[in-house]
Amino acid sequence: LSSIQVDISGVAEGTQLTVKWLGKPVFIRHRTAEEIERARADDGATLIDPLSQNANKPDASAADENRSLDEEGRWLVQIGVCTHLGCVPIGDGAGDFGGWFCPCHGSHYDASGRIRRGPAPQNMHIPVASFVDDTTIKLG
Ligand code: FES
Repeated sequence: LSSIQVDISGVAEGTQLTVKWLGKPVFIRHRTAEEIERARADDGATLIDPLSQNANKPDASAADENRSLDEEGRWLVQIGVCTHLGCVPIGDGAGDFGGWFCPCHGSHYDASGRIRRGPAPQNMHIPVASFVDDTTIKLG
């Protein structure tokens, strides 16, 4: 099956769920208001990759609102694979930009999953995803 449904009702604010989809980890993060604020404040920073890398919004800019699944920005769904050579980054605010950190060669991603420092060339990719209802996300 190329699409799956994920129950997100148990994912508390400030935590993330990792599911496996098409052989890859997918991070489903329920962001706090502080994380959203920080991610959106960083929209104006110098971004290594200016594109959203969001399959749901091709060609959009990397602004946080183009990366989150809902308009408020509470849910960030991304393929948990470093865009350098494919390691799985560590999450929960890791790295110098309060998002994810890839320990393989030192790539730092921010609270929006955008690459901010290190050898990775692109923001973490966002898969085709949508809400089925308030507590269910469909991947694919
Ligand atoms: Fe992540 Fe190289 S694979 S920094």
